[in-house]
Amino acid sequence: CGIVGYIGFNQASDFLLDGMAKLEYRGYDSAGIAVIGPKNVIKIQKKVGRLANLEAIVKADPNEGTIGIGHTRWATHGRPSDMNAHPHASEDGKFAVVHNGIIENYMPLKEELIEKGYHFKSETDTEVVAHLLEDMYDGDFVGTVRRMLARVDGAYALEIICADEPDKIICTKKENPLVIGLGKGENFVASDIPAIINYTRDTYILSDGELAIVTRDNVSVFDREGNPVDKEVFHVNWNAEAAEKGGYEHFMLKEIHDQPKAVRDTFGTHISEDGKTAIFDELNWTAEDVAAFNKILIVACGTAYHAGLVTKQYIENLARIPVSVEIASEYRYSNPLTDDKTLCIVISQSGETSDTLAALKEAKRHGAKSLAITNVVGSSISREADNTVYTWAGPEISVASTKAYTTQLVAGLLFAVYLGQLNGKMDPALGEEILSGVKNLPTLIHEIFEVDEDMKAFAKHYGFKSDAFFLGRAIDYAVAMEGALKLKEISYIHAEAYAGGELKHGTLALIEEGVPVIALATQKDVYDKMISNIREVKAREAVVIGIGMKGDEELSKHVDHTIYVPRANKFIAPILAVVPLQLLAYYAAITRGADVDKPRNLAKSVTVE
Ligand code: G6P
Repeated sequence: CGIVGYIGFNQASDFLLDGMAKLEYRGYDSAGIAVIGPKNVIKIQKKVGRLANLEAIVKADPNEGTIGIGHTRWATHGRPSDMNAHPHASEDGKFAVVHNGIIENYMPLKEELIEKGYHFKSETDTEVVAHLLEDMYDGDFVGTVRRMLARVDGAYALEIICADEPDKIICTKKENPLVIGLGKGENFVASDIPAIINYTRDTYILSDGELAIVTRDNVSVFDREGNPVDKEVFHVNWNAEAAEKGGYEHFMLKEIHDQPKAVRDTFGTHISEDGKTAIFDELNWTAEDVAAFNKILIVACGTAYHAGLVTKQYIENLARIPVSVEIASEYRYSNPLTDDKTLCIVISQSGETSDTLAALKEAKRHGAKSLAITNVVGSSISREADNTVYTWAGPEISVASTKAYTTQLVAGLLFAVYLGQLNGKMDPALGEEILSGVKNLPTLIHEIFEVDEDMKAFAKHYGFKSDAFFLGRAIDYAVAMEGALKLKEISYIHAEAYAGGELKHGTLALIEEGVPVIALATQKDVYDKMISNIREVKAREAVVIGIGMKGDEELSKHVDHTIYVPRANKFIAPILAVVPLQLLAYYAAITRGADVDKPRNLAKSVTVE
């Protein structure tokens, strides 16, 4: 989601709508504004769909006033709708709130407020903030916000206005970005720099826990304890386009770097506080529910299909339930053996892929129970499936999928642990080890970014080659497939993935002097076999880049270049090993001058057959 705020001498709605347009890449399923107008009444206008819908409403019925807040939404709790769009207001109309993030403890708060007689109009977690403010209000706006914040857990960037004090916006953040643009006689708030770059280049970048009181002529910032903070002015010298990409050259690179946060948001509510249990409140299954199916079918397309291949390994290893993974466009015409003892899992970033949706309907027609893993709340696939587990990657703009894939792996792994817990087929100690590994992922992915320069150098060196091969065994084979797809999609280099042991049955004929081979060797159980496969291609004078785990000295003896990812549990390893492959594809595309974010002939969301 993206949030904006304005206080000054101009019509607030002008900046709000313009700023939101610049933030549409953060979400675009609904939008809204709240402005304090004549007689200090807060007027809220909001509308589902693209920003143009809201613009039309504001044009027809101007929202006059010089202080206001706005929000462009990427749905989390509650599907896209007029009601779920922000801002949310307290019942007495005194407070309006926009929020980016997730209030984790909103359920108990909501129950408490309902008990007290408050009426909720939306399904969002944000609305509790508005009602809490009304409930706790003692005439002191700032004090009430502070006391409210002490009661909410989770991640947020929040902006609040109060009709009683129409001379200030209060904003605060935790694990979600928030910047304040410093003007003359006016000030701006936004979740990201692109929104304000045409108005001012002097900003305060808020840190976690900080709270700012923004008035027309002043911005005061306080720390968690309420002590004033002396903020340094951050002067932005990016151009507007670079700012949209968070300073990165392309959305793909930005999204690769978004992964630590995307992964954290995805495991967010799924691991118990003691770290011992995987939780899926949205499913709430029992052992009997799991016993009701005897096989699992995963259907998906493209990168999501590759996430399905990894998820198969997760589920078969941890829950010992047989899993088949089918390409959605093949499955739908396959006269399938699906029945009412089948659990059909569909994986889709967009939730709109036509082949995947059709495959889901086909599986349901055969009596299957269904579960969607998708990144878009309220998407067609989430509406069609019996249950949905969301990945929280945030909007993915680059056609080549990166953070959607890693978050799909995280969701798949947690779901496999969940099944294994319920049917008792998983060693609980292993479950705990995996969960602690998942929690560590954001840190580990950060560490991998150290290989950036190496990948750039390889891409420069091998970028001109017309073919590349990716080898792996077990889970690494699925990762190899994703690595090859990334390279093909954006650099147009012909790439093939092979299961290490299959090489000698055909493709070995294509290996000759200087052909680049990317060999994944993160899986201990098949490590020696993988080394043999590496030697097979080395004997044909291929150039081998080995991807292994830190501390594996052996690997470097057999390959030309070694890339290490942090040592981790074997089920965590694929979520790490794919990152260097994403970077390799990215830099190969750059080397060849290809249009990284919009590769030729491909579309982000394919809603035709
Ligand atoms: C398109 C995209 C791929 C994506 C596939 C499935 O082909 O170019 O990157 O993996 O669709 O999309 P979905 O939204 O269903 O995950």
